[in-house]
Amino acid sequence: MPAIKFYDHEPIPVEMHKVKIVQQLHLLPADQRLVKMKEAGFNTFQLHNGDIFMDMLTDSGVNAMSDHMLAGMMTPDDAYAGSESFFRMRDKLEEIFGMKYCLPAHQGRACENILATRFVKPGSCVIMNYHFTTAKAHITRLGGHVEELVKDEGLVSQSDLPFKGDIDLDKLEACIEKEGADNVAFMRLEAGTNLIGGQPVSVQSFKDACAIARKHGILSVLDASLLQDNLYFIKIRDEERKDMSVREITREIADQFDMIYFSARKFGFARGGAILVRDEDLFHSMEDLVPMFEGFLTYGGMSVREIEAMTVGFDESMDMDVISHGPQFIKYCVDKLADYGVPMITPAGGLGAHVDASTFVSHIPQQEYPAGALVCAFYLCGGIRGMERGTLSEERNADGSERFASMELVRLALPRRVFTLSQVEYVIDRVKWVYDHRDMIGGLRFVHEPATLRFFTGKLEATSDWPEKLVAAYKADFGEDQ
Ligand SMILES: Cc1ncc(COP(=O)(O)O)c(C=O)c1O
Repeated sequence: MPAIKFYDHEPIPVEMHKVKIVQQLHLLPADQRLVKMKEAGFNTFQLHNGDIFMDMLTDSGVNAMSDHMLAGMMTPDDAYAGSESFFRMRDKLEEIFGMKYCLPAHQGRACENILATRFVKPGSCVIMNYHFTTAKAHITRLGGHVEELVKDEGLVSQSDLPFKGDIDLDKLEACIEKEGADNVAFMRLEAGTNLIGGQPVSVQSFKDACAIARKHGILSVLDASLLQDNLYFIKIRDEERKDMSVREITREIADQFDMIYFSARKFGFARGGAILVRDEDLFHSMEDLVPMFEGFLTYGGMSVREIEAMTVGFDESMDMDVISHGPQFIKYCVDKLADYGVPMITPAGGLGAHVDASTFVSHIPQQEYPAGALVCAFYLCGGIRGMERGTLSEERNADGSERFASMELVRLALPRRVFTLSQVEYVIDRVKWVYDHRDMIGGLRFVHEPATLRFFTGKLEATSDWPEKLVAAYKADFGEDQ
């Protein structure tokens, strides 16, 4: 994207789109937010959207669609079998990724279900740079386990490493040796590594890791859900590839892999997903799972309208102007907060601004969910809904003990093309206020704890009256109506 230059203004990111449809927002007063937070069991997934001012929970399925995407939704081909909409999508994906076979699925985790069901057996290992919650849950559900081999530096919160999502090649070789190649169901590399702060993977790392997998006869799978952010970072951080087009970089990455899957709630800016397969036999070996779990092979549980929208969205994901918006806004937010002293994951990644909760609220022990408590504080003090990405998002060990996350993060997602810079400024302002009152924040404990993916539906309570005290301090500074 040609960063817009200024004459008499500090450089700021400028939107390369204009707004045509808007949704009204409401800011509930802090007292009411406290009531809503308690009703939601201190779990931001349980809040109602109407009670939220800035919804920064996720970038999933909430990105703004373009006029061309909406136009595509007006001309779908509605058919149970053989929809032309599906063939248009499949052809577009082949054009971009060079893989001929396409299994549609209703979202990313449905692709993960199909891959795990096909390849994971009790005792199997799946190698990853880093896990994603649903990917791991499907593997462990089937008796498999995950080995996370991201480089140690990827887990250091403040750094200037450009590609913190890179897998450690020595660890990869050692893991294959330990597990035995036959026991490795597949290697899954995640672009724009979600749970460590939306951090990108370098092309070299994709290439080296896939070469090792190939040498050992291990299938390689790319999770391309956050590929668009990863592509932006390659374009601006990889000196060797700065003159390549986004499409050329995409193809260079895709060419390394046997399979690619993605959530089109992210990649494609709509709602859906697909698995792309290079080899015909491999494709046929998974084919029956689509009608069983998703729907017929030419819609995979998706509406044909969404299929048309995402087909346009895939092209837009290859446009540097479009894919620059998120990362530039995130960097703006991260840099301003880091300058103020707020511990942020740096360098800024994709998907959202990530706050390092283990430093922000270092007084809260990990068993009282520091990131879970901080995300609630952001809602109480500003109506901002983020997502906990720490110990709460983990599952307990088999013996019932806590599995402590290697990073305690609060994610403030920036869905693509949705927020304006003044709204981002508001968030920065409120996060600074919370930072200056961080000692008032206390811990959380479960009152209802589901065994699987507990962060979605679990209910918690505060370990003291800290939420009441925090809201009182907030009202003293901002008044009753904020
Ligand atoms: C990297 C990654 N993979 C897979 C998924 C799962 O996709 P979905 O939410 O569409 O099921 C997500 C969702 O956030 C993701 O970020």
